[in-house]
Amino acid sequence: MPGKAEVIIGAQWGDEGKGRVVDALADRVDLVVRYQGGANAGHTVIVGKDKYIFHLLPSGMLYTGKTCVIGNGVVVDPGQLLTELKDLQDKGKDRARLVVSGAAHVVMPYHKVLDEAEERLRGKGRKIGTTHRGIGPCYADKVNRIGIRVEDLLDAEVLRMKLRQNLELKNLYLSRVCGVDPLPFDDLFRTAFDWGKSIAPYVGDASRVVNEALDAGKGVLFEGAQGTLLDMDHGTYPYVTASTPVSAGACTGSGVSPTRIDRVLGVVKAYCTRVGEGPFPTENKGEIGERLREKGSEYGATTGRPRRCGWLDLVALRYAARVNGLTGMALTKLDVLTGLDEIQVAVGYELDGEVTEHFPGGGHRLDRVVPVYRSLPGWKEEIGGCRKVEDLPENARNYVRFLEDFSGVKALLIGVGPAREETILQGL
Ligand code: IMP
Repeated sequence: MPGKAEVIIGAQWGDEGKGRVVDALADRVDLVVRYQGGANAGHTVIVGKDKYIFHLLPSGMLYTGKTCVIGNGVVVDPGQLLTELKDLQDKGKDRARLVVSGAAHVVMPYHKVLDEAEERLRGKGRKIGTTHRGIGPCYADKVNRIGIRVEDLLDAEVLRMKLRQNLELKNLYLSRVCGVDPLPFDDLFRTAFDWGKSIAPYVGDASRVVNEALDAGKGVLFEGAQGTLLDMDHGTYPYVTASTPVSAGACTGSGVSPTRIDRVLGVVKAYCTRVGEGPFPTENKGEIGERLREKGSEYGATTGRPRRCGWLDLVALRYAARVNGLTGMALTKLDVLTGLDEIQVAVGYELDGEVTEHFPGGGHRLDRVVPVYRSLPGWKEEIGGCRKVEDLPENARNYVRFLEDFSGVKALLIGVGPAREETILQGL
């Protein structure tokens, strides 16, 4: 019997609560697979009084008997990976088996230096607002076909050769263009080779592991990082990350065919946030934005930066439903809206004198749009104890229904509070 393969993606600008959704669903599957991005992600899982933030490890690591896979599409910072593993080991929570694709690219220390230096060179007004985790420079090397892959860390000769080739160019660029001191070869080589020794037990053929699991009828969750509007092709370019967070990325980033994917669940926060630069049509810089930030604890899990906040954008959500082929939605943080008299949602954009319901491609057109809002009545009752949709106050139910009708996607999971059990599941 074939297994069920489900992709979990962020339908907005990241930080939708994907870690928590993956955690809620992980006990039903056998494998959890990360397929893109790197330690720029920060997936928060709260279990009892404990809070875990996974940057690189898949969010299924807390479950005994699961296999967690880091696919070829991920960029791996081995230092970060080993820190996260050690942290779990120290707490006695390293319960899952880990497989890291040998074909995944390695974020080297110079990628992080470059990330920071290039942002500085871009300057105010042109910087992207990256996480400084070396993500863009690492993917750039991959595309340029000079990247160092995880498997290269295991072979001293290959590593030496590739590192020498890379470092010559990087050091020239760093010192002459960025005004940064060159990095010494010997230190880097030793660090990278030691990483290789430490992660060797986890390195394997990830595509084979995932496909064989599906052949054996096992369930697989693909855990997207970042979000649709940060996708390199479908997001608000150039204010995007350097990978493919949309559902299609799950296939290229893990070596699984599109024909094997059964469902795509879009994680949607009940309002919108964005970290870093770039257009955000429904951003609210006033009282509402401030209230959402404080009540929703909207501070970056990776960088600690305050997130920009605003109302839910249904034009963008409908677009995300299309490019990801959403078969369901996980609506998170509905409780953060509790207490508001009215809640606004964007149902159209005014662009150059015309109203459209379609998300315009390209960052610059998006800069000029003015959202058209619909106002919906709020609710005052606390909803943390609700476990069925029928338990929700009527106005909260109507809010959810409005989102479903507009986007054409049903809410199969609704988050009503931060804890694992504060979740309504319907039809999942
Ligand atoms: P990078 O991925 O570090 O290159 O950053 C590119 C853009 O993506 C910046 O605007 C970041 O703030 C944003 N970004 C990267 N990772 C995340 C994430 O996990 N959540 C939200 N935004 C992110």
